[in-house]
Amino acid sequence: MASTPRRSSLVAILAALLAAVLLPLSTLSAHGADTPLRTLASADGRQIGVAVSDNRLTGSTAYSSLVSGQFNSVTAENAMKWDAVEPSQGNLNWAAADRLVAFARANGQVVRGHTLAWHSQVPGWITNGGFSADRLRTLLQQHIATEAGRYAGKVYAWDVVNEAFNDNGTRRSSIWQDNLGDGWIADSLTWAHQADPAARLYINDYSVEGVNAKSTALYDLVKSLKQQGVPIDGVGFQAHLVLGQVPSDLKANLQRFADLGVDVAITELDVRMQTPSNATALAAQAEDYRKVITACRAVARCVGVTVWGLDDADSWVPGVFSGYGAATLYDENLQAKPAWAAVAAAFGGSTASPSPSGSGSGSPSSSASPSPSAPPSSPPSSSPLPGGCTVAYRIANQWTGGFTADVTVTNKGTSAIGPWQVGWQFGAGQQVTQGWSAVFTQSGAAVTAANPSWATGLAPGASYGFGFNGSWGTSNPVPASFTLNGTVCTTA
Ligand code: XIL
Repeated sequence: MASTPRRSSLVAILAALLAAVLLPLSTLSAHGADTPLRTLASADGRQIGVAVSDNRLTGSTAYSSLVSGQFNSVTAENAMKWDAVEPSQGNLNWAAADRLVAFARANGQVVRGHTLAWHSQVPGWITNGGFSADRLRTLLQQHIATEAGRYAGKVYAWDVVNEAFNDNGTRRSSIWQDNLGDGWIADSLTWAHQADPAARLYINDYSVEGVNAKSTALYDLVKSLKQQGVPIDGVGFQAHLVLGQVPSDLKANLQRFADLGVDVAITELDVRMQTPSNATALAAQAEDYRKVITACRAVARCVGVTVWGLDDADSWVPGVFSGYGAATLYDENLQAKPAWAAVAAAFGGSTASPSPSGSGSGSPSSSASPSPSAPPSSPPSSSPLPGGCTVAYRIANQWTGGFTADVTVTNKGTSAIGPWQVGWQFGAGQQVTQGWSAVFTQSGAAVTAANPSWATGLAPGASYGFGFNGSWGTSNPVPASFTLNGTVCTTA
């Protein structure tokens, strides 16, 4: 029954290859009732993620095929926390975290790293160590340097700082706050940036989904960090919600943070209800999930939504909120719940109910190829763009067989460009495995990255950035030239 991680990833790769061979692109493009969530989210240029339990990932192929088949992003539920990676001083244990990173890579998924500096799940040797403030500062710095350094180029984003505020907006008392003072947040972000300059660095918290004292304190902090030039790229909204209590100002709140110039993400979504559940409550829960996805999609800088736990048997909720549960997208038998269909529909999929099979395990989405999408809304124009364009293509990180690239396109002309597509040819068989902030299609060597629905226009002088993870074989040359809507751009 139990399979080794090596065997699981082999199985996943074989399934991916088989799916890619057996299913023509046209079949994949038909967004039927069972279209995997990751296909729908990728077509929207967004992430749909899940918090993954290491035990279940290694112990259940039903579980791991849903994780790979339905999600284009993963977060370690516990495996990257300090108590997991350094249970006693100097005794580093990366096995579970490495497993998840390898799994993600094999399945064309991005990894959200969680979490570097938090008051909870700090190992006992720190909390009981009687260390001086200076020593604690060094230990935190070393921890961040070691962990973010280990996964440099392999994680898309880090929740560098987790849960720093009380509900009334004051700083939460913690070993870091109490010993290092307010500066521990800026310091942690700076150390993480030094260790992994390419990762998007987040501050993450709960009960900050609506506009309230806590979210406003977080907002003020992010604003001041940005003003000081502290490296912060995103704000994570955990969204551990109670049935029927999605804040009505969720979208407005996400937008006010985005307006500070940071990405936003829903990082730990679950919607708990009193158990046992019933059909009415499950339908109401589906509506709550729909609202959250819809709010994210309405904010250009909302990169995606991660659900906290794959299924109701796997959720942290019953253990922490007595009498509550049934908070995730799948029931205890891994059957898709109405919430699954609501998420699919909110991402533009069919509104039909989920299939009893649990929707898509072993489905085409376990392919590591970029998700297919509808043809771009406007074909590339053959006439040159007045004023031209530049494209900067940077390999942010590279490792054996894989890489992360950032692409920035700039409209150098004096008029706005409507729907757009950036195109290039890979020179050495590289393959896009998972992209963000654009809709990717690849046919042979030819790649197009089209605007997501929420970023159709490029104003004169405006730049737009997107990125992807890719695979490579013997070499990974930078593409020789790039086009924007068919016109060759200057390479920046
Ligand atoms: C939870 C995990 O789900 C549990 O398995 C663990 O026992 C405790 O932590 N906010 C966070 C997450 O940032 O790391 C927490 O995860 C849930 C609340």
